[in-house]
Amino acid sequence: MNSNQQTVAKVMNAVEDHFEDAVARLQAILRVPSISTDPAHVSDVRAAAEWFDREFKSLGFSCEVVDTPGHPVVFAERKAASEDAPTVLYYGHYDVQPADPLDQWNSPPFEPVIVDDANGGRIVARGAVDDKGQVMTFIEAFRAWIDATGEIPVSVKVMLEGEEESGSESLGGFLDAFADRLAADVCVVSDTGMWNGETPAITTMLRGMIYLEAEVRGPGHDLHSGMYGGAIANPANVLARIIASMHRDDGTVAIPNFYDGVEDPPSNILDQWRNLGFDEAGFLASAKISAATGGEAGRTILERTWSRPTLDVNGIHGGYTGAGAKTIIPATCSAKISCRLVPGQDPAKIEATLKTFIEAGLPEGFSVSFISHGLNPAVVVPADSPWLAAATAGLTEAYDTPAAVVGSGGSIPAVGDIQSKLGIDALLVGFSLDDDRIHSPNEKFDLRCLRGGIRSHAGMIGAFASRSGD
Ligand code: BES
Ligand code: MN
Ligand code: MN
Repeated sequence: MNSNQQTVAKVMNAVEDHFEDAVARLQAILRVPSISTDPAHVSDVRAAAEWFDREFKSLGFSCEVVDTPGHPVVFAERKAASEDAPTVLYYGHYDVQPADPLDQWNSPPFEPVIVDDANGGRIVARGAVDDKGQVMTFIEAFRAWIDATGEIPVSVKVMLEGEEESGSESLGGFLDAFADRLAADVCVVSDTGMWNGETPAITTMLRGMIYLEAEVRGPGHDLHSGMYGGAIANPANVLARIIASMHRDDGTVAIPNFYDGVEDPPSNILDQWRNLGFDEAGFLASAKISAATGGEAGRTILERTWSRPTLDVNGIHGGYTGAGAKTIIPATCSAKISCRLVPGQDPAKIEATLKTFIEAGLPEGFSVSFISHGLNPAVVVPADSPWLAAATAGLTEAYDTPAAVVGSGGSIPAVGDIQSKLGIDALLVGFSLDDDRIHSPNEKFDLRCLRGGIRSHAGMIGAFASRSGD
């Protein structure tokens, strides 16, 4: 063993020594219901930010909880001893999705439990993997380096956001205001998935997104459906018809100009994806359904989720939704509609064409109002950067199987902003698995992924340190 290998071995021992405490610390922050989209939880979101603030200070970081027009950003810094060390900016989010539907949880969402299973156990709670558990993977790696060697061999900056799950609306302003202080050589993000339980992954494409809520209004108030039905158009029927016309029978989206600018990924990327050996049965099992009939005919599941734009209704509500039967023509009906976007699509143009499409489907006397819940473009990160090579090398300290280079169907609005506003390329290395039930009841994080994630970050820090900052 050379001295580098000895150092990494010492750091890995520290990871193992602290693992039980790391699980306990994760459980502590999972008890804070930091649901960013729900105004009832504003103070819980702040409490979560303050928890991380204390955590960073206890590790010798300087840290502040920075107010924004929305939820605060936690910004922490710790300089390496060596002036030549590169600076790594870590990004994650401490907010979580709402826990609904509550009755489908096997244990309360904000009372984390460890459940034994064939994979060595899992921690179950809202936010377990998205993203508190993954944020802890790099924080625990910092701790292991400090305990084993007295320092972190790269200069570390950390930015934890409290609005990722509700569209990151305040982050752009924060990045503008803090641009100088955020300067770094690379930005590491842990908010994506592994390829499988044994194979880590580096994600090089994320889809973008627009999210629009449309409320269709017809009559001035709810009407008796016997007296008026057949004469006055029904907003629920109208909206349903408009939504149904948004897709063609072959699964393509029928909104005009929707595919403008969309290109297929380069053939070498498509070849890489084909060679990954996608486990379709496992994918279907993770969704508890027997077939993948959504999306465009004639394309593989990976293509459909990683490189094709989509349109989905996330929820429809209107009219009578209580128990039993009530006979009305409702006055209004609403839908929450999102589009996942790929490189080449302009989010603002897609939002505009979707609005026009809905307006064009309204009968005389009807109106529609829109609420925009954010728009962000797709992201591509260079697959050939030296930082990606260093990360790949670092990951071999934690996993025997080399990292897969993958795409992802999810969105992380911050990554596009970090690339465009700060000019820093992102490195997306995450540790979730397909069956983690992200955003669903009984969200979980396998303890093996928590441990592997901490070891991975520990290894990557070592690999980054051997690169210089310029
Ligand atoms: N961590 C996810 C994104 C993700 C999920 C990436 C799975 C890769 C694999 C993130 O927290 C998320 O849920 N993002 C939202 C963004 C939205 C609220 C703007 C999403 O993708 O729906
Ligand atoms: Mn996330
Ligand atoms: Mn999420």
